[in-house]
Amino acid sequence: MKIFDIAPVKYLDGKMLILDQTRLPGEEIYIEMETKEDVWDAIYKLQVRGAPAIGVAAAYGLYVAVRDLPEDNLFAFGKALHEAADYLVGARPTAVNLAWALKRMTDKYDGLELTDLLAGADISNPNPVKAAKDILFAEAEAIRIEDEEACRAMGEHGLTLLEPGMGILTHCNAGTIATAKYGTCLAPIYLGHEKGYDFKVFADETRPLLQGARLTSWELHKSGIDVTLICDNMASIVMRNGWIQAVVTGCDRMAANGDGANKIGTSGVAILAKEYGIPFYMYVPTSTIDLDTPTGAEIKIEERDGEEIYKMWYEKPMAPEGVKTYNPAFDVTPAEYITAVVTEKGIVRPPYKENLAKLFEGDK
Ligand code: MRU
Repeated sequence: MKIFDIAPVKYLDGKMLILDQTRLPGEEIYIEMETKEDVWDAIYKLQVRGAPAIGVAAAYGLYVAVRDLPEDNLFAFGKALHEAADYLVGARPTAVNLAWALKRMTDKYDGLELTDLLAGADISNPNPVKAAKDILFAEAEAIRIEDEEACRAMGEHGLTLLEPGMGILTHCNAGTIATAKYGTCLAPIYLGHEKGYDFKVFADETRPLLQGARLTSWELHKSGIDVTLICDNMASIVMRNGWIQAVVTGCDRMAANGDGANKIGTSGVAILAKEYGIPFYMYVPTSTIDLDTPTGAEIKIEERDGEEIYKMWYEKPMAPEGVKTYNPAFDVTPAEYITAVVTEKGIVRPPYKENLAKLFEGDK
């Protein structure tokens, strides 16, 4: 079975299922999301994580939140839909895909005309609420399918930046389980591997939650790709050894000026890459670009429980109880360190303010 067949979120036989990523690499277990509270918790606890996968989970999660509501009152249905979206958006603040997917779902509902709600209905007994539910489900499916297509396209564009035999460093996990399929920055690695490109990938372990160790090295190893796991503080030495020809990462929110928030530690890797003259490529589907946020300074950075740093992964605490901690989950890589931004619409180079905006020309 290919790694791509392991979807982080799926809706099968009337059930929303997520792969519990906190149990990887030891166990591949799907859990059912039955309520909006289940979905909120799963996003907050990182059982589903990675910006695009969070967006997909939020879209299906919003459908789950309303699918069993009574079908006799369209007004009450619309109110409940908006309340559920307002609730889910609070699960995590940094990845814009969460807010983006929820807004896309509520916009879809708000834009419906009576004719949409009656189309295909039993005319003797039309049910606009049922029709709205079906339309919302179809929108969640579309979000998932479009993300899959975007990742595939990013993989194809990104592969033009890479050459066979290259050493590639990555941070965190922007692979297939962080998206609908293929991943963002791991997509070109998978496509290159299929063409026999024999990349040598170095995966930062990515403390404190170890997405690089638990998820990226698991994905790549399972796919037969040459992957070497390193601690975060080893990035400099592998660059200095001449083993890295490109750095690739994902992104959680890119501001209009090209500053990109991604997993904590990404900015340090980008600064090192510049020092060593290594190109740094950030993979950013347009769903992750937030033109309403002018610069990285305005991106809200999630802070998480300090116990994640010294307790969560250990049998005994690795620091004295009660020690002060600081645990930001993301940092912002300034645009000047990003050699190119890979999107599904093509590769964007500086100046980012002008060139990112061009991606959206013609959109409503
Ligand atoms: O806290 P996480 O695991 O959700 O953080 C994920 C990342 O930072 C990824 O690099 C980013 O979401 C891009 S995923 C394609």
